[in-house]
Amino acid sequence: MRSPCACLPIWILILCCQHCLASPKNGSCSVQDGRADCSHLGLSKIPSDLPGNITTLDMSHNRLVGIDPAALKPYPHILHLNLSHNSVTKVNEGLCEILPLLRTLRLERNEIHLLNKEHLSRCTSLTLLNMASNRLKLKGEPFSGLQSLKFLDVSMNNLQSAKLGSEPQLPSLVSLSLASNDFTELKREDFSFLNQSSFLQVLNLSSTSLKKLESGCFKPVSGLHTLILDQSNIGTLVISKVCSELSHTAIDVLSLQKMKLITLTNTTFKGLEETNLTFLDLSTNNLTKIEEGSFKWLPRLKTLVLSENNIKHVTQGTFQGLKELKKLQLTKALVKTRSSSVPIIDDFSFQALGALETLLLQRTSVRQITENTFSGLRSLTELDMSWSSYASLKKINRETFSSLSNSPLMRLNLVGTAISHLYPGSFSVLKNLTFLFLDHNFINQTLTGQEFEGLSQLEELHMISNFQTIQLTSQSFVGMTGLKVLTLGKSLRAMALNVSPSPFKPLANLAFLDLSNNNIANIKDNLLEGLSNLKVLNLQHNNLAQLWKSSNVGGPVLFLKNTPRLTTLHLDYNGLDEIPVEALKDLTNLKELSLSNNLLNSLKDSVFDNLKSLKVFSLVKNSITTVRPEVFKAPLSNLSLLLMDRNPFDCTCESILWFVTWLKSRNKTSVPDLEHQYVCNTPPTYFNRTIIKFDPLSCKDMAPFQALFILSSTAVLMLMVTALLVRFHGWRIQFYWNILIGYTLGLSDAKVEEGREFEYDAYVIHAAADAGWVERRIEPLENERCRFCLEDRDSIPGMSQLESIVNNMRKCRKILFVVTESLLLDPWCRQFKAHHALNQVIEASRDSIILVFLQDVHDYKLSRSLFLRRGMLRPCCILDWPVYKERVPAFHQKLFIALGMTNKLQE
Ligand SMILES: *[C@@H]1O[C@H](CO)[C@@H](O)[C@H](O)[C@H]1NC(C)=O
Ligand SMILES: *[C@@H]1O[C@H](CO)[C@@H](O)[C@H](O)[C@H]1NC(C)=O
Ligand SMILES: *[C@@H]1O[C@H](CO)[C@@H](O)[C@H](O)[C@H]1NC(C)=O
Ligand SMILES: *[C@@H]1O[C@H](CO)[C@@H](O)[C@H](O)[C@H]1NC(C)=O
Ligand SMILES: *[C@@H]1O[C@H](CO)[C@@H](O)[C@H](O)[C@H]1NC(C)=O
Ligand SMILES: *[C@@H]1O[C@H](CO)[C@@H](O)[C@H](O)[C@H]1NC(C)=O
Ligand SMILES: *[C@@H]1O[C@H](CO)[C@@H](O)[C@H](O)[C@H]1NC(C)=O
Ligand SMILES: *[C@@H]1O[C@H](CO)[C@@H](O)[C@H](O)[C@H]1NC(C)=O
Repeated sequence: MRSPCACLPIWILILCCQHCLASPKNGSCSVQDGRADCSHLGLSKIPSDLPGNITTLDMSHNRLVGIDPAALKPYPHILHLNLSHNSVTKVNEGLCEILPLLRTLRLERNEIHLLNKEHLSRCTSLTLLNMASNRLKLKGEPFSGLQSLKFLDVSMNNLQSAKLGSEPQLPSLVSLSLASNDFTELKREDFSFLNQSSFLQVLNLSSTSLKKLESGCFKPVSGLHTLILDQSNIGTLVISKVCSELSHTAIDVLSLQKMKLITLTNTTFKGLEETNLTFLDLSTNNLTKIEEGSFKWLPRLKTLVLSENNIKHVTQGTFQGLKELKKLQLTKALVKTRSSSVPIIDDFSFQALGALETLLLQRTSVRQITENTFSGLRSLTELDMSWSSYASLKKINRETFSSLSNSPLMRLNLVGTAISHLYPGSFSVLKNLTFLFLDHNFINQTLTGQEFEGLSQLEELHMISNFQTIQLTSQSFVGMTGLKVLTLGKSLRAMALNVSPSPFKPLANLAFLDLSNNNIANIKDNLLEGLSNLKVLNLQHNNLAQLWKSSNVGGPVLFLKNTPRLTTLHLDYNGLDEIPVEALKDLTNLKELSLSNNLLNSLKDSVFDNLKSLKVFSLVKNSITTVRPEVFKAPLSNLSLLLMDRNPFDCTCESILWFVTWLKSRNKTSVPDLEHQYVCNTPPTYFNRTIIKFDPLSCKDMAPFQALFILSSTAVLMLMVTALLVRFHGWRIQFYWNILIGYTLGLSDAKVEEGREFEYDAYVIHAAADAGWVERRIEPLENERCRFCLEDRDSIPGMSQLESIVNNMRKCRKILFVVTESLLLDPWCRQFKAHHALNQVIEASRDSIILVFLQDVHDYKLSRSLFLRRGMLRPCCILDWPVYKERVPAFHQKLFIALGMTNKLQE
């Protein structure tokens, strides 16, 4: 609402403010729903460019010195005009002509002086006129035109008389305030101008210094209901005069607060005898003495307020005659001060109050309560003595409230009354008692059940804040079967609940149980047994962590298994770092779960899954880093309010992505402080950043990257494996490849090859050193069906050795290696013959090699020299020259088999 100049550069400011001077602060009023608020703007004129259809204009707290009708001309629809807190000196005649609809005109705190008939004569629609705190000087009949006026306030105007006119006027007036004016006298004719104001109900004459009232002064206003004389500096005598003048009026409510009425005499209210006064307020008067019979004139009084007085002594006669009184308010009315003694309430003081229903004795101090203090209160349903100091209340026994035995007391409030012990039968006479408040006391005892004997009607028992000195037994609440609310917060000893059967077992109707702030560490799993109607359970500020640990001796204590109707559960501040999966499984009706200020971090999957009705969920200030759907999807699905702020969130995709996505897509769940109290703790780059700024897209891109990573690393790995294979087994791959290709294409059909009619059965490769062995053992095996090609013997004449080898090998069906260490060392064999043999084998895709081992040669050496391994060949093509002679025929047999075998890879 400030000037728009405020944030513009200086030069614009200067230009703008020149403009401002020319037409003051036009844009500054706020307009909404037909209401223009131009208050507190330092305006000296009514703005001219407001919407023409406004109905309310607030010009309060400005610098107007007058009301310019012309300035209001653009706003003919105004109903409510507020010109208070200005410096207006005059009400202009044309005002109501320009604003014919005006209903409310507020002119308080101005400097209006002269006021005459013409100023307001046209304001026929006006219902409220406030001219408080001006300097009014009335001329003639200034208010006579106000046919509709209901509320007129001319307080604080230094008026010398209550007479606002001499002829009857203001026919619609309901309320007139003449407070804080200077008149000290009410003359007989003063209110004659209200002669025809038949609706007048309220007359406010507070803060006046009335000294004299002419008789009949209230006669013209005999319909008056309410007279307010608060803070008037008038003595008891003038009060009695006021009362007698009020006789025969319709007076109903009389307010006499803060009038320094030290004493009430037995005649002060005599004048009210003929009235039907129902409400009398005498609060804050420093009343010390109330004479007996002071109220006997008020038989129809319903409410008597005596709060904040200094009454010393209440006697049997004090309330005499108040036979219809329903409510007696004595809050702080009887107090012990440093200079005075403890006030006394005599026996039978309230006996006259047969209709009294509510007796409020809050914050009072009384010497003692006897067996007759409250006698006769046969209608009393509520007694409130909270925060009072009564010696008799320290130890309550059968006698303490015996005077209430005939009262249908339903509500007894003993909060903060320093009770230290309840003896058996303390409340037994209060058969109708429904609500008992014992909070903030010093009750230090074991409750055996006898203390509450007879309270079968009790529905609520409140005992919070009793310094944790109450011990329970299984019988503590026996017989209170109707109990619905039981509060024991900050009252129980640490072991109070460690009894079996549970103290609460008899309370089948209990709906609200408060066990908070008790430091309880030990409860049994049957604590809540039988509480099938329990709706609210408060267990915050205890020490229950151990009970739910999986390491607990005997397993976790599942104490919530008997409360299926529970709707609200508070478990804050318990040091919980674990919740067993089954702990909450029966709470299908739970609406509010509060687990704030614990140490919860990793929650088990589906621990909250059965909380189908959950609306409010608090996990404020735990150690939660990860919000996983396995845990939170179910409880968050139907929530109205989530409180999970101040957790050390881990802002990584695995931990927070699901939660952030949920936060962004949630429809109806309110999450207060989301911007500021939900911040990342880890990783370091995100520290102290709000989690809602976490970008889910950064995780989505991860998926292709991951695939790509896996793909590329697999490719690299395969490449490496292939390279290694090729490096170390390339020959074998090639070998089998060729064989495979040849075979599939049908090229290596043995019959075709065999049909080629090889000249020899085998080409024998051997080291020179083994020539003797070949001569002795191989050559003799030759016959018509079997011929060997021996290099030395069968080389083709005229051909080079190389060519000859190549040619001969082609003519042989098989190639037989005579393997010895020497062969491996023979350069010819190693490098050329073997190589060529292999080449041929590979080219022809023949499985045609036979190895005959004369010595045991290591496979490794074999492969290094001949590029052959045993594993490459079929077992029958590998032969060992036997050590024993008798096995030589078997060797021959094997050799023939190997030679005679078809070259096909498979038989
Ligand atoms: C007042 O008039 C303006 C247009 O000048 C219009 O937008 C607004 O709704 C009207 N307000 C009322 C309360 O009639
Ligand atoms: C008021 O009390 C005085 C004694 O204090 C007694 O003489 C007088 O009769 C009482 N007046 C009424 C009206 O009860
Ligand atoms: C007081 O109430 C009664 C009955 O309610 C009524 O007859 C009587 O006129 C009332 N008195 C005054 C002064 O209003
Ligand atoms: C109340 O009255 C006593 C005398 O009865 C006087 O001493 C005391 O100052 C008064 N207190 C107030 C707050 O007026
Ligand atoms: C008080 O209890 C009695 C029976 O014990 C019953 O008759 C009476 O109506 C009750 N009073 C109230 C006000 O409930
Ligand atoms: C409670 O009463 C026992 C005796 O019954 C006493 O030893 C103990 O000090 C009392 N505790 C408090 C806090 O007053
Ligand atoms: C919000 O509402 C839309 C449409 O009704 C729905 O598709 C979406 O799942 C809801 N979001 C959540 C978090 O429930
Ligand atoms: C976290 O950021 C807020 C402002 O966003 C700042 O006030 C606060 O000091 C920061 N806390 C830490 C520990 O850096």
